[in-house]
Amino acid sequence: MTFHIGAKPGEIAETVLLPGDPYRARWAAQKYLENPVLVNEVRGMLGYTGTWRGHRVTIHGSGMGMPSLSIYANELIRDYGAQTLIRIGSAGAMQPHVKVRDVVLAQAASTLGSPSQAMFRELHFAPVADFGLLTAAHKAAQSIGVPVHVGGIYSSDTFYDERPDLNEQLQRHGCLCVEMEAAELYHLAARHGRRALAVLTISDHLLTQEALPADQRETSFGAMVEVALEAAFS
Ligand code: ADE
Repeated sequence: MTFHIGAKPGEIAETVLLPGDPYRARWAAQKYLENPVLVNEVRGMLGYTGTWRGHRVTIHGSGMGMPSLSIYANELIRDYGAQTLIRIGSAGAMQPHVKVRDVVLAQAASTLGSPSQAMFRELHFAPVADFGLLTAAHKAAQSIGVPVHVGGIYSSDTFYDERPDLNEQLQRHGCLCVEMEAAELYHLAARHGRRALAVLTISDHLLTQEALPADQRETSFGAMVEVALEAAFS
C-alpha cells in the first residue's frame, strides 16, 4: 500500500492504462478486461486489474492535471513496478484538420511547467513518447480505422484558459491539441526508464467550439482504449 493506492503487492500489472476519470477506468475495465478486479478505491480513485487477450493490465484513474497524475504515476512506477504507462484521455483540438472524435498520439508534450520542471531550472526539457509505443499505436489506429494524428500537444495547467495569446502561438507551431497530464507522465517515464504514451480522443474543438455529445463519448473513447491495448502488447 502507498499513500494513495490501496493495492497489495503484485495486484498492479506491469502495463497500466491511465484515464483521468476514475469512472472511465471502471467502464474500460468492465468492457475490455477479462475478470477485472478492483484493486484500489482510496479517495474514490478506482483501479482495476484484469487480463486482455491473456496479458495482465491495470486500468487506474490519474485524476485531472499534472500534480494529480504525478502522485499516481510516481507510486505506480516506484512502489508497484509499472513498466508501461499509457494515458487514455480527452483533449481539445487546436488545428482545423484535427476533428472531434479523432485520435491524437502525443509525440511530445509542451508545458508551461510540470511538477518535474523545478529540477531542470532554466532548462526546457523535451518530454517525448516512447517511440515503440508510438509507432505501434499508430499502426493499431490505422487498422481499427479511426482517424489518427501524430505530433506535438500542449499539457496545460488550466482548463479555463486565460492565455489566448499562448494558444495562438501553439497553433502557429503546429500543436495538435490541449490536455492536462501527458507532459508530466513523459517526464516521469524518462526519469525512471519506463515506456509512456498519451493516446487522446478529441472531445472538443478550440477553433469551432464543437463538443462531443455525452451520448457519443463512449464509442469514441472505446477506440482509444483499443489503440492503447494493441500498442502495449504488439
Ligand atoms: N481536455 C479536453 N478538452 C480540453 C481542453 N479544452 N482544455 C484542456 N484539457 C482538455
